[in-house]
Amino acid sequence: MKGPAATRWRKLVQARLAEMERLQAGRGTLGAAFWDTRAKRFAARMSLATATGDPFYRRLRRSTGRRSTVVDVGCGPGRFTLALAPHVAAVTALDPSGRMLDICRKQARALGLANVTCVQGRWEETEVPRVDVAFSSYVLTLVPDAPRFLTKLDASATERAFLYLGAYTADAIMDPLWRHFHGRSRKPGPTYLDAADVLRELGLAPEIEVVEVATRARFKSVADAAKDYRDQLCLPDTAEVRKELRELLENWLVPRGDELGAPLKTVPAAIVSWRPRGPRGLG
Ligand SMILES: C[S@@+](CC[C@H](N)C(=O)[O-])C[C@H]1O[C@@H](n2cnc3c(N)ncnc32)[C@H](O)[C@@H]1O
Repeated sequence: MKGPAATRWRKLVQARLAEMERLQAGRGTLGAAFWDTRAKRFAARMSLATATGDPFYRRLRRSTGRRSTVVDVGCGPGRFTLALAPHVAAVTALDPSGRMLDICRKQARALGLANVTCVQGRWEETEVPRVDVAFSSYVLTLVPDAPRFLTKLDASATERAFLYLGAYTADAIMDPLWRHFHGRSRKPGPTYLDAADVLRELGLAPEIEVVEVATRARFKSVADAAKDYRDQLCLPDTAEVRKELRELLENWLVPRGDELGAPLKTVPAAIVSWRPRGPRGLG
């Protein structure tokens, strides 16, 4: 039986996925194919270099040591996996997207990291060995069945489990652009407050730390930015859309060095963590 927090979570995620599916048929379900097509661009933005300056990395370092084993759930191209690996015993990097994992594997090899194991699959359905610390960064809001995902995360770690989630939804910043094209606001996704509620419903005691993270999007030109924003705004690739977006973005983007960036320099994110109950809590 799911409680009200889990039900609310599912409704929010499903409504948002349905909206994406309606706007971009066949691409909106956020499965492995969706991430495969975005892996290269995502990796360019979310590189290893961005991880070491990130507050979440510093928090992970405080909870791990040379002998720690770790799992990075939904690792993407592996910014946290690659940053942590030199300082821990072993990292399991799991993701359903083969392209994301290829980038992670390649970078691990280039950095001479022999303690990274890449595993392809969805977290809910893939068995990995139990570890000391389990974490998942910017993944949970894509998953309708939060209790299943979180119960598994809890059961997989012996010392600490972590979620890293946006604390000020990107939608709030994008809202004027979204409304311009779609005539109404985007369906809201769940937040870290909803995640904490689901964890409490599962009998867990989450601790929350809100941190400030630098925005990473940088564009060489307005046309370059328009491609990225078109995807984020779920718009079709037509000449009219490209032109309209370029005009709007002229006034929207701000100079960052010799490139262009999003209006806010930093945005808040939430580190949600708890002491795991372990496999006894499974059920
Ligand atoms: C926004 S990216 C975050 C990547 C990385 N954790 C980071 O913070 O840079 C989301 C990632 O979650 C993965 N993902 C989506 N659903 C998942 C699931 N059910 N289990 C594991 N990973 C999932 C996607 O393939 C994608 O690589």
